[in-house]
Amino acid sequence: MESCCKSTFITGHEALDSGAWIMVTTVPGLEDIVLREASEKLSIFGAEERFCNVGGRVLLNIPLNQVNQVFTLRSIEHIIQLIGSFKIKCDKGGLNQIYEGVYRLDVPLGSTFRVSCERIGEHEFTSIDVQRAAGQALVDKYAKKVDLKNPETIVRVDVIHDTCIVGLQRTRTSLRIRYPRAFQHYSALNPVIAYGMLRISNVRPGDRVLDAFCGGGTIIIEAAQVWSNLDLLGIDISPKSIEGAWRNAEAAGVKDRVRFIVGDARRLEKILPLDWKVDKAISNLPFGIRSGRMKAIPGIYSDFLKSLKPFLKEDSKVCLLTVHRDLLSSISESLNFKVIESKQILYGGLQAWIVLLVPA
Ligand SMILES: C[S@@+](CC[C@H](N)C(=O)[O-])C[C@H]1O[C@@H](n2cnc3c(N)ncnc32)[C@H](O)[C@@H]1O
Repeated sequence: MESCCKSTFITGHEALDSGAWIMVTTVPGLEDIVLREASEKLSIFGAEERFCNVGGRVLLNIPLNQVNQVFTLRSIEHIIQLIGSFKIKCDKGGLNQIYEGVYRLDVPLGSTFRVSCERIGEHEFTSIDVQRAAGQALVDKYAKKVDLKNPETIVRVDVIHDTCIVGLQRTRTSLRIRYPRAFQHYSALNPVIAYGMLRISNVRPGDRVLDAFCGGGTIIIEAAQVWSNLDLLGIDISPKSIEGAWRNAEAAGVKDRVRFIVGDARRLEKILPLDWKVDKAISNLPFGIRSGRMKAIPGIYSDFLKSLKPFLKEDSKVCLLTVHRDLLSSISESLNFKVIESKQILYGGLQAWIVLLVPA
């Protein structure tokens, strides 16, 4: 089996002593957004966009006193502060190596702990075997108690092909949970993706942002939480979603900075005054998969783009999430839009694309 990890964290000795090594997780495909955001908010000594060649994991080497600032990143889900790593075999013998490797490391445990594991690759053992071997090493070395429900310390022991990576998981729940949602839309977008779409669109203070398929309001609420001084409007054909979006905005503390209205994205001229112009139109489009109405999708995409056009300025941007990238590209081009970026992400197990368009 090919050795996967050529990281400085894995191979460099002096690197281990300098600063904190943090592995953050994100939506696979958004690693570059994490790096951009991290370099604005932190001092980065070194970074690896796809840690161990795995999508959705970014390695950051930062000053020790900036670890708490990592929690402010909007583009990430979990934070794992790395302690050490070592090579292992992929057969059953790997479990002994995990026991010995974990035993050798200094792992700062609280009074109780649990081990969690993510395993990528083919091994003759499971993640549960890894948890057991690593947990036993920690019990034998530190005589601390295991608490599976509410441990003081969560030790992450990940196995990626022939590399075992050990760290402390600093997040309890995913940072994608921004506020307690008052309304759960059946197809609610992960706010980490919403943030990524806002960044890809290059949203700036003063912009007018429209989400014409807003559902429970995720994109508009994310924008309100991150940027000041935006003019934010969400539209959805479903009155239940619009009522839910208002409730979510209230729960998120941004109700006075957003607007949501019921309307049809294919007939925007019926809801918006003609001199109303939008800087950024950003939407998580319907895919037609859950509803089984795939036949309606080409019509929705094309009628929406036609209806949007009069509300765009020369420099407006349109950023759309879909699983039907080719369909969207061909409709856009036939309507005189230019695709300037197309970014593949993993969205709830589906390959999806964030497509950035400009009026041509
Ligand atoms: C994928 S969901 C959006 C979910 C949303 N991003 C969220 O996080 O809650 C698509 C939404 O498009 C709405 N929709 C479908 N056809 C529409 C149309 N013609 N005009 C406006 N909204 C429409 C649906 O009601 C649904 O709420």
